[in-house]
Amino acid sequence: MSEQEIKVPDLGGADEVEVIEIIVSEGDSVAEEDPILTVESDKASVELPAPAAGKIAKITVKVGDKVREGDVVGVMAADGDAGSAEQSAPAEESEEKVEAAPEEPKPAPKKSGGSRKETIKVPSLDGMENVPVIEVNVSEGDTIEAESALVTVESDKATMEVPSPYAGKVGKILVKEGDKVSEGDELVELTIEEEGGEKSPAAEPEKPAASEQPAQPSAKPEAAPQPQGSTYEPPAPGTKVHAGPAVRKLARELGADLTRVKGSGPKGRIVKDDVQAYVKSQLQQSQQGGSVGTGSGIPGVKLPDFSQFGDIEKESMSRMMAATATNMQRSWLNVPHVTQFEDADITDMEDFRKSQKAAGEKRGVKMTPLPFLLKACANALAELPQFNVSIDMEKKEVIRKKYIHIGIAVDTPHGLMVPVIRDVDKKGLWELAAESAELAKKARDKQLKPAEMQGACFTITSLGGIGGTAFTPIVNTPEVAILGVSKAAMKPVWDGKEFQPRLMLPLSLSYDHRAVNGADAARFTSALAQSLGDIRTLLL
Ligand code: COA
Repeated sequence: MSEQEIKVPDLGGADEVEVIEIIVSEGDSVAEEDPILTVESDKASVELPAPAAGKIAKITVKVGDKVREGDVVGVMAADGDAGSAEQSAPAEESEEKVEAAPEEPKPAPKKSGGSRKETIKVPSLDGMENVPVIEVNVSEGDTIEAESALVTVESDKATMEVPSPYAGKVGKILVKEGDKVSEGDELVELTIEEEGGEKSPAAEPEKPAASEQPAQPSAKPEAAPQPQGSTYEPPAPGTKVHAGPAVRKLARELGADLTRVKGSGPKGRIVKDDVQAYVKSQLQQSQQGGSVGTGSGIPGVKLPDFSQFGDIEKESMSRMMAATATNMQRSWLNVPHVTQFEDADITDMEDFRKSQKAAGEKRGVKMTPLPFLLKACANALAELPQFNVSIDMEKKEVIRKKYIHIGIAVDTPHGLMVPVIRDVDKKGLWELAAESAELAKKARDKQLKPAEMQGACFTITSLGGIGGTAFTPIVNTPEVAILGVSKAAMKPVWDGKEFQPRLMLPLSLSYDHRAVNGADAARFTSALAQSLGDIRTLLL
């Protein structure tokens, strides 16, 4: 064993940097290149690696200290003879760990009013080339602030957001996930509003540390419905994660979502202890039957090599498919589901609906069964407010909503989307028909804004235009119920004297049995059947 000083390596041009995290403790055994501590300049986070394998004898700096290249930050007892007291971490090692910072935001553009288009390009990546885009953080049509992350790139050593130098509206996106980019490559087209030149870029926006990464992609128009664990609180749009590569690596290894981890370091920086504490608390909660986990402890499904059975082809999931899959699984595993079935006699409703055909043509609106369903659900939610809640199992609270916004599941070529109609109780059938048609079109054209997919109290998923007799929809948590609608069919219904041919609409109400009891579910579907059976009651 030989004693070896741990020195600050070449900092890639940075002069003085601050120690923001001490990763090891005295007495810890480390492998060569294990991170010892993290320093941060205004541009980048750098982890100082162990110059050799061995035991940490002493750390001679503390969080907040300022250090420069060549400063001694600790002493270690290196295994074997490999180390020498003079040896410090090789410069190129540390440079590899530097998370490149983007270039300075550009100066203000032209001062004239109106708008102009700008194609935003990849800034200097500090020598990195062909770096994969791991996340596209914006969508076409998004309105963004200067400094909002456009994409996130990741080399094998560093993660970096590429921020927009200007505020504006995102036009065409010129890269996709998996693309490899280098400095100068075009990323997105941005329309920049120039209200007298006052509004555009942040004059001197603070440059983000390169290691910052958005909490999650800014809510995307194509985002899937947001079923989440009942205690899930989505991070505020634009929330940044402040953590170095070693912490990110640890989080990846442990499967921890850094957007949910509270940082205890300087400026809210997430340190390793935070990740470990978070994972521990999640484990404890799931062991205690808490509602946060997504089924930990459930054995995963092992896939065989399908090519042994015949030809196959592999394709990456789209972001939307992956998000929907995760959300469905989260809802399914967190929510004790029960489905209540009912048939509504819509013979009269259909007669009325068809009688409105000419009126609809005049208005340019098609009256389908959906507006009646929306109205009937709004009435039932008002009558049985225990369905218009969300539950917080951590705080043991029921959150009652005083508004009635209903999501409608829309089948689109790119996946399932759930736009939300607000204040359904205050709208008439024509208004609901027009709005649902417009939102469904927007969903199919990928034109929905994030706000148009948020805030639902309840969801309707209608497969009636396609077929089927019944199904068990998955509750779109944190809502507590969802109505599935299947295809109406003529059935013989006994009226006390004889069978009558009646048009019956199958309804399937899935609900979260923690929030709603079975008797109330039966009341809810009966209320629906009643209002759809006699639509005059919708007026009451
Ligand atoms: N029974 C019988 N026919 C029905 C029906 C029902 N329950 N619901 C709709 N129809 C009829 C309509 O009247 C219309 O017929 P018409 O042209 O003769 O009048 C036809 O089916 C098509 O209706 P549609 O265009 O689907 O309109 P809609 O207002 O009923 O539904 C959406 C709109 C957006 C809900 C629907 O288009 C959609 O996307 N459904 C799928 C949702 C989904 O995928 N859910 C799965 C989630 S897991």
